[in-house]
Amino acid sequence: MRSLAEELKAGAGHRTVLLLPFIHGGVFDAATHALFGPSFPASKLQPSFSTFDSSVPALAMGLPSSLDVPFTRARAHLLRIFEQYLSAPAFAGASELIDSVVHVARAHAWSGRDTAVWLLALLWPLQANSPFAVYWLLALMLRAPGGLEPLVQEVDAARAEWEKAHPAAPFADSVVQFVGEAQLPRLTSAVQETLRYATGSFSVRCVEAESVRLGGYELRKGDHIVCSVRSLHLSEDIFEDAGKFMPTRFMDRQHKQPSYLPFGGGISQCEGRFLALSQIRTFVVLLLTTFDIKLDDRHGPDVRFGEGQRGFGMIRPKGDLQVILTPREGHAI
Ligand code: HEM
Repeated sequence: MRSLAEELKAGAGHRTVLLLPFIHGGVFDAATHALFGPSFPASKLQPSFSTFDSSVPALAMGLPSSLDVPFTRARAHLLRIFEQYLSAPAFAGASELIDSVVHVARAHAWSGRDTAVWLLALLWPLQANSPFAVYWLLALMLRAPGGLEPLVQEVDAARAEWEKAHPAAPFADSVVQFVGEAQLPRLTSAVQETLRYATGSFSVRCVEAESVRLGGYELRKGDHIVCSVRSLHLSEDIFEDAGKFMPTRFMDRQHKQPSYLPFGGGISQCEGRFLALSQIRTFVVLLLTTFDIKLDDRHGPDVRFGEGQRGFGMIRPKGDLQVILTPREGHAI
C-alpha cells in the first residue's frame, strides 16, 4: 500500500483498478507474511492457491483428486514452494510459529514433503475466507448509500483520538494495537453484517448413535447432517429485511449463536475466527487511511454472488468492481 501510494503521489495522482485482485492480493500477502514470516515468498503462492481453493468443494463432495488435473498440479506447485523454502537461506526469517513447527517435524524425522503438506493445511484455512470477507465488505459498502464515507469518518476520528493519547507511537507501526484498542462500532457492525450477508457456510456433522430422531427425521449411525447456516442468516424471522445489506444492523442489536453463525458452531467452530476478525479490521483500517476509494461505475464491470463453491465460508464473487484509488493526504503508512 505504501509503495503504491507513493508511486501515485509522484505520478498520475490516482489509478483505476479492479477491486478483487487488488484486495485479494493484498490480504493474501499480508496474512501469509503474518503467519509464515517476512521472508516467505507469499505472492508466488497466490495463483496456485486460487486454483487449489476452487477445487476444494468438489473434492469435499467426493471427487477423486486424480481426476482434477488443475488441482493436482496446483497442489504439487504449492508443496514444491514450501519444500524449497524449508531448505532455503530465507527460512532463517521464518516466523516463530513456522520455525517451531518445522523444528518438531524435523525432530520426528518427517520428510520435507510431509512438512510441506502440513504447511499447506495451515495455509488453506488462513486464506480461504479472509480475503473475500474484506472484498465483500468494500464491494457492498461502496454500493450502499453513503459508500465508505461513514467508515472513513469513524476511523479518522478514532485515529485522531488515539494519536493524542499515544504521541510517541507512530500510527503506521501501531495499527494492530490501534485496531485492538479503538472503539470502531460502525466498522465492527459492517464486518458482522458482511459475514451475515455474504457467507454460505455449512456445519457438517456425522451421527454417532445407532438411531436419533431430529426435527421429525429418523437419522441412523453414519448419516451426515449438513446445517446450512445461510438459511438462518436470510431468515426474516430473525433478521428484519434479511435480504438487504444494512451495514449498521449490528449497531442497534447484537445477534449471537444460534441465529448468527458465520464461523459455524459447536465442536468444529472456526478456530481462526479471532485472527480473521483482527486481520479484516486491520487491513480495512490501513486501506481507508491510505487511499480514498471511489466506485468507477461509469463503464466498469459489476459483481454478484457466485453460484458455486458454497459451504466453506465466504461466497465467491462473480464479476468484479472497478474503483479509483487516490492516496490520501497524511496517509498512515
Ligand atoms: C472470514 C473468515 C473466516 C470464515 C468465514 C471462516 C469460516 C469457517 C467455518 C464456517 C468453519 C466450519 C465450522 C463448523 O464446522 O461448524 C471453519 C472452520 C475452521 N476454520 Fe475458519 N473461517 C475464517 C477464517 C479462518 C482463519 C483465518 C483461520 C486460521 C488461520 C481459520 C481456521 C479454521 C479451522 C482450523 C477450522 C476447522 C475447525 C475444526 O474443525 O475444529 N478460519 N471456518
